[in-house]
Amino acid sequence: MFEPTASAKKLPRSMNAQWLPFTPNRDFLRDPKMFARASGVFYTDVEGRSVLDGASGLFTTPAGHARVEIADAVREQMLALDFTPSFLRGHNGSFALAEQIVEILPKGMERVFFVNSGSEAVDTALKICLAYHRARRDSGRQMFVSRERAYHGVNFGGVALAGMVNNRRAFGAPALPVAHMRHTWQEQSRFTRGQATTGAELADDLLRMIRLYGAENIAACVVEPIAGSTGVLVPPVGYLERLRAICDEYGLLLVFDEVICGFGRTGKAFAAQSFGVTPDIITMAKAITNGCVPMGAVAVGKHVYEAVVEAAAPDAIELFHGYTWSAHPVACAAGIATQTIFQQEKLFARSQHLSGVFLETLYGLEDLPGVTDIRGFGMLGGVDTDPKVLGVDGYVLQKRLFDRGLHIKTTGDCAIFAPPFVSTSEQIQSMIGIFRDTVGDLVRGA
Ligand SMILES: Cc1ncc(COP(=O)(O)O)c(C=O)c1O
Repeated sequence: MFEPTASAKKLPRSMNAQWLPFTPNRDFLRDPKMFARASGVFYTDVEGRSVLDGASGLFTTPAGHARVEIADAVREQMLALDFTPSFLRGHNGSFALAEQIVEILPKGMERVFFVNSGSEAVDTALKICLAYHRARRDSGRQMFVSRERAYHGVNFGGVALAGMVNNRRAFGAPALPVAHMRHTWQEQSRFTRGQATTGAELADDLLRMIRLYGAENIAACVVEPIAGSTGVLVPPVGYLERLRAICDEYGLLLVFDEVICGFGRTGKAFAAQSFGVTPDIITMAKAITNGCVPMGAVAVGKHVYEAVVEAAAPDAIELFHGYTWSAHPVACAAGIATQTIFQQEKLFARSQHLSGVFLETLYGLEDLPGVTDIRGFGMLGGVDTDPKVLGVDGYVLQKRLFDRGLHIKTTGDCAIFAPPFVSTSEQIQSMIGIFRDTVGDLVRGA
């Protein structure tokens, strides 16, 4: 039960009605971490304290908070056309946004299907894979291959793909048939900056699955190019290329879940371009609207779209799938304004440039007691900590960091940094500096 403390005057009168997602509700109410405002790379909490945003919100806000261009576009759109059904009706904004996205996608990816979140994007992608094979009269392909330590959202398809056990264990065995490859974390690659030079052969797990289940039963291989939420597992050199080659040889679709990587996080528009591997399908969400309005999307290769669409009669619905809020006009307006900012401010190039300072400073933590591994690529980094040395686990660590003025995400005992691309070098150094000081004090017992 929430009891406001003397200092908590700016909190709501009651906090007993909401059930918080992915949060220990009872502990949160004892010590609520509440934001009131955000601007640029700073949040302000309800007590008026500034908190540096070391996570771009939740990988959502690379262009910084409170962008006037996006706010104006949203207000204008709400007054002009606040809603239109997306079934059998259209509006100009969604076509314009789809064009903007296609322009930055790898060549050959030419169609975009709009949804409202990363989880919806993943489940939509799975259904498109099944529909693709069925359209090609190869309907035995019903199974998927994903990976240990994967995160693909929280809808049933994504949970079936998932490889993070806490996200699965309360829900039994999801119905979708999925086989899991090994993850790509390797003991010998601790503290490797960027891609490890060993480990490409881990992709041969896909071959083992094919031998075990038969290629004719497998629809697709689904991976995050960099496994983000589990703690930033960067693919070894040659790994994604090998997955691509195996998928091609055995007729599987390759899906990259770029919900975190998409829109510049790896220094190019998509990780597919950073790693030089083009999948058949890319899922995206988060930064598509700079986090301002919920939205996700699934981009597909020309061959995927054409196979599904051309299998249907000319005036028939080709894909019996979509959401009330697919291509919502307000989300599209926010998306167009966001993509325009990315383009005008060359934020993907800025991400690539800033990555030098970011990774240099992040890997400077290697000497810090209690830090057991650092992984990073582009503007995404993970720092593993040893709770026995720090005296606290990752959950308590993120609370301490918040109290010292830094917002980041932790998963287990991994601290995940994903600074906004509009950060200055000094702000990035401050973020990592707060982490260094906080961990240092914990280790000393201060
Ligand atoms: C790779 C990946 N896929 C899917 C999702 C789910 O996105 P959402 O929380 O918008 O449903 C996430 C969220 O972090 C993600 O990282």
